[in-house]
Amino acid sequence: MKFIIYLFLFITACYASNNTICTNGFDLINNKCWKLFQTPANHTIAERTCTGYGGTLFMAKTAIDNRAVGNYVNSFGIDRIWMGVFCIGNAKSQCYFDDQVGSTVIYDNFAPGFPNAGTGRCVYYALSGSTSGLWINGDCMESFPYVCELPTTHSDYCDYNFNDHCYFLNDELSFSGAQLQCQSLCSNLVSIHSAEENRYITSLYSQLSYDFIRIGGIASSNDFVVWADGSVMDYSNLETFGTGGNCLKMALKSTDYHSRGSWYTDDCSTLAHFVCKRPIGVPDCSGTPPPPTVPPPTMAPPTCTSGVHVAPGVISSPNYPNYYRSACAYTLTTYGSNKIRLTFNYVYTYPNYDPIDIYDGDSTDAPLLYSLNRQSGGGYWTYTSTGNSIYVNFRYTSGQTSTYTGFNATFYSVF
Ligand SMILES: *[C@@H]1O[C@H](CO)[C@@H](O)[C@H](O)[C@H]1NC(C)=O
Ligand SMILES: *[C@@H]1O[C@H](CO)[C@@H](O)[C@H](O)[C@H]1NC(C)=O
Ligand SMILES: *[C@@H]1O[C@H](CO)[C@@H](O)[C@H](O)[C@H]1NC(C)=O
Repeated sequence: MKFIIYLFLFITACYASNNTICTNGFDLINNKCWKLFQTPANHTIAERTCTGYGGTLFMAKTAIDNRAVGNYVNSFGIDRIWMGVFCIGNAKSQCYFDDQVGSTVIYDNFAPGFPNAGTGRCVYYALSGSTSGLWINGDCMESFPYVCELPTTHSDYCDYNFNDHCYFLNDELSFSGAQLQCQSLCSNLVSIHSAEENRYITSLYSQLSYDFIRIGGIASSNDFVVWADGSVMDYSNLETFGTGGNCLKMALKSTDYHSRGSWYTDDCSTLAHFVCKRPIGVPDCSGTPPPPTVPPPTMAPPTCTSGVHVAPGVISSPNYPNYYRSACAYTLTTYGSNKIRLTFNYVYTYPNYDPIDIYDGDSTDAPLLYSLNRQSGGGYWTYTSTGNSIYVNFRYTSGQTSTYTGFNATFYSVF
């Protein structure tokens, strides 16, 4: 009995010495890091603000979280706030949390009659009257206050502390030079295990003008990355493989050829800025453990399936690569906090009669980004949305049933 009491006291003492904190001036509420932004903003701007801290809009995944956020903002006289849930349909399984790890099948508190993407794909948390604490779909273009969320962490002396890891920014070195430098800091070249961590690392460089940084992975194929710290590959943002080498780099800017936050391969001897990472607490300078197991890649087939496509994926004209004989419309979407980058690598359509209209939103009501209208075959045309959807309306007014093979395009989720 005495032993049990001592054990209990010991465990309690350890927990008490575990100093849970929030960085960036976020408030520690119910073991989450939250920050209220009272100035109303549309969903795109709200997500962008949260992403700027390496976070997302807040997510409630238990009834306790859901009540806690209500209590947190209750005294501010606000009647609704954006939350980190985005719906592509009317089922709970079609509403995704911003951290990209699941749908609202896990937990939800939708008001009766919701989710209903028909009233808007974005979701807000109501704070007044009989709907208080309930979730309701709203038009993403409306402006509301919002709460951002960051993972909790524990105190350590490092400048960049996220989700129980310390990160260190370094000047240019080759892959092996970088790993040695990290080891001298009791750390390793950074491995990345979630979309949130990926976003956090890009946010560390938001004030710097580099095009790329090196990260601590070596890609042996399109869908297999070995991390320098020996951790298992459980997340990948590798966009293209096999150009120039096998060492990974991450783009910090979106261009015609690269998406911010995506990974590419490069020559391992190229000098690049890099990030080291170690767990918080006592530095662990032990060696490198054994390599990982295999993950699955997925890509939509290159056929016309009208409807909602979640990034990443491929779309192509009906019957591609054979002659198209019908129109087709596609809604491309991704998690609420991201944008869509759409790249056509083949376009061969009847000029002026069969345009591909690309809208910056989820319907033809959104602003037209571009009407792609060409007879050119191979090439490279890239469009990036401002929010998290693109609507592609391929029209077919020519009636031509031979000659034109249409288009093939890929789309990715970018920050
Ligand atoms: C202290 O926090 C760390 C990190 O979350 C955790 O792994 C550890 O179990 C905690 N300590 C105790 C004694 O629970
Ligand atoms: C969101 O607000 C910003 C700034 O006011 C504006 O530029 C942008 O067009 C808005 N986006 C949408 C989808 O309403
Ligand atoms: C469409 O483009 C993708 C990406 O370039 C390519 O992998 C795929 O093979 C193309 N599909 C067809 C049918 O050509």
